[in-house]
Amino acid sequence: MDQFDRLEVKENAERWAREARELIVAQMKETFSITTKAHQHDLVTDVDKNVEKFFLDKISHTYSDHRLMGEEGSFEEIKNLDGVVWILDPIDGTINFVQQKSNFAISIGIFQDGVPIIGLVYDVMRDEMFLSLKGEGATLNGIKIEPIPKVSLNESLLSFNAGWMLKDRKLEWLLEESRGIRSYGVASLEMAYVACGRLEAYISFNLAPWDMAGGYALLQEVGGIVTNYNGDPLTFLEKDTMIAANPWVYKEITEVLNRK
Ligand code: IPD
Ligand code: CA
Ligand code: CA
Ligand code: CA
Repeated sequence: MDQFDRLEVKENAERWAREARELIVAQMKETFSITTKAHQHDLVTDVDKNVEKFFLDKISHTYSDHRLMGEEGSFEEIKNLDGVVWILDPIDGTINFVQQKSNFAISIGIFQDGVPIIGLVYDVMRDEMFLSLKGEGATLNGIKIEPIPKVSLNESLLSFNAGWMLKDRKLEWLLEESRGIRSYGVASLEMAYVACGRLEAYISFNLAPWDMAGGYALLQEVGGIVTNYNGDPLTFLEKDTMIAANPWVYKEITEVLNRK
């Protein structure tokens, strides 16, 4: 396995995300086009595409042997995770970006031969930078995030879309047995919130690799558990379901979901 300068790559990822913030904030003041993709819940704007193009230019210029799997087009050539792959969501939470001008993130997971090495989730408007490096832990705005502590389900805040209750009515039991349910509409940030203890679990039935990769890398560094809804590992090559959680709460959640 070729080594790469992980610290330098992490610093560049952080610098480029902060530069991308400037680009986003400037473009928010202009009019930008909004297009519907597959359906009314699936939007893309020029800003999403411009941020992806910004990273594509930076990465290909600086690291010619690294590959980019980005939501807005550059995923198409990526059929495996060999070598170094940047898995990028240029704007995670595009609906929030369009309708709220807030509550969206840039998400990056940098994998080497399928192993998450660097995680970055950047809440652009709050200027909150979640970063991780394999074996070195995770930080929020430069301050170390402590390993996830023991918490029980009845004192936990969980996050999932209300619509998922139609997929599995057992999720109603989690509503009853936890302290409460939240939904932010920005998967990467919801995973980052699990990493720093603002939430104990995040559940989804429909995520792409770029929604999951940055938050997954962060959670690896603080002792979080991430699987699909069946308890299997994620592949980061296709869409999947997800439970990302505090390990103690993960156990309680799966006990509830396996109940007859
Ligand atoms: C979406 C957000 C949302 C999740 C969707 C994603 P996008 O990403 O992460 O929270 O529920 O499944 O597609 O399209 O805004 O990048
Ligand atoms: Ca999208
Ligand atoms: Ca996304
Ligand atoms: Ca996106």
